[in-house]
Amino acid sequence: MKRASQTRTDVAILAVILLAVAVTIQSVRQAQGAWFRPLHIVDYGILTVMLALVMVMDLVQIALPQSKFSVAFAVSGTVFFAASVAYGAIVGVILAGVGTLVTELFLRKKFRRLLFNVAQLVCAAGSAGLAYHAVVQTNFRAPLASTVTLIAALLSGALYLLVNAALVSTVVGIDIKKSPLQVFIANIPGVLMQNITLFSIGMLLTTVRDLTPLSLFFAVLPLLGPYLAIRGHRDTLVQIRKTIEALADTVDRRDTSTAQHSERVARYTQQIIDELGTLGFAEAEAIILAARVHDLGKIAIPDAVLLKPGRLDEGEYWLMRQHPVAGDDILQQLAIYKDSLGVVRHHHERYDGTGYPDGLKGEEIPIGARIVSVADSYDVMTSDRPYARARTVREGKEELIACKGTHFDPKIVDAFVRVLDRQHALEPADMVEMASSAISSPVA
Ligand SMILES: [Fe+2]
Repeated sequence: MKRASQTRTDVAILAVILLAVAVTIQSVRQAQGAWFRPLHIVDYGILTVMLALVMVMDLVQIALPQSKFSVAFAVSGTVFFAASVAYGAIVGVILAGVGTLVTELFLRKKFRRLLFNVAQLVCAAGSAGLAYHAVVQTNFRAPLASTVTLIAALLSGALYLLVNAALVSTVVGIDIKKSPLQVFIANIPGVLMQNITLFSIGMLLTTVRDLTPLSLFFAVLPLLGPYLAIRGHRDTLVQIRKTIEALADTVDRRDTSTAQHSERVARYTQQIIDELGTLGFAEAEAIILAARVHDLGKIAIPDAVLLKPGRLDEGEYWLMRQHPVAGDDILQQLAIYKDSLGVVRHHHERYDGTGYPDGLKGEEIPIGARIVSVADSYDVMTSDRPYARARTVREGKEELIACKGTHFDPKIVDAFVRVLDRQHALEPADMVEMASSAISSPVA
């Protein structure tokens, strides 16, 4: 299964490489056109500085954390685009190809990723230059000097962003078995403003031909602003997420029997979502983020209740039942959890409507909460507790099945059971059973 998806990804990468070769050939043809002015010695000086800048920019590129599949955010795209427009597609192609190859080699990126990144940036830079110079058949006039050239530069900049985003979304989508459109849409909010800012700076950089190598440094200095802003934004998001997760882990550790409970629940949640295969990309991400901190509200429960070994009295039980609401109250303050709120509030609802805090029933319960409910209950059952020994995988699975339709959403239990069956198919106890019943189904 994994091999098949790897092959699909490799085929997609190969297709992007072939596209990059076609774009490069077309860019060479464009450079042979009658209007193409050969480069002057000063141009080579400028291009050398641009190449050096690209490498520095790529070395400090920022991976945005909203989604683990977010594309690394590199300001070097502004330079590739500007070079393509100012000098011709072939110059952008060479800068994108050589600059990316050298930095990715330096960063010791995996070979497949290196090939893909070089190829997709060559495609983006080349197609922007090809489109611009198809309209504006000169490479010695400042692109912002007239309305026609300005519009052509705007459109080719949009094409650069589109080609870049489309190729990355397609290959990432194939790799993680999501629709490329979903990946594309999920990544837009995180990078839209940054791309607009960088796009504007790229437009100004298209006047590069009128500069000297030294003045180019001042021209790219404004890039420091968006770079620092993006890095600050990324760091803040990471710090918020890590702080909340550290708090959730502290809650888990208050009771030795629940240490790492939240981490395991997040892992099971991810497995169920993958098995269901029906959730949108952004929705899945939000649910997993929430699963990781689903019991955060227990921070408001006193030790005397949370750690009580015996049965809780009515008042204590009431207090315990407040933790989904308390968690929801805390997370409401944080924008990164805004899409996750239903999960935390409703993870103790039951499918038959007898759960808490709101007594929601069936499909009224948010899908994320129904998934976390199964993952949470399974982990509680299969972990040692002061009042009960850990059940085996098989016992946990049987209990989930027994509670289908009452406590749990049946289709979510079915999905998780399939995951557990695959994972534990080769465990010794099951192997005996498999041999005795002569089952020889292949294991994924
Ligand atoms: Fe809980």
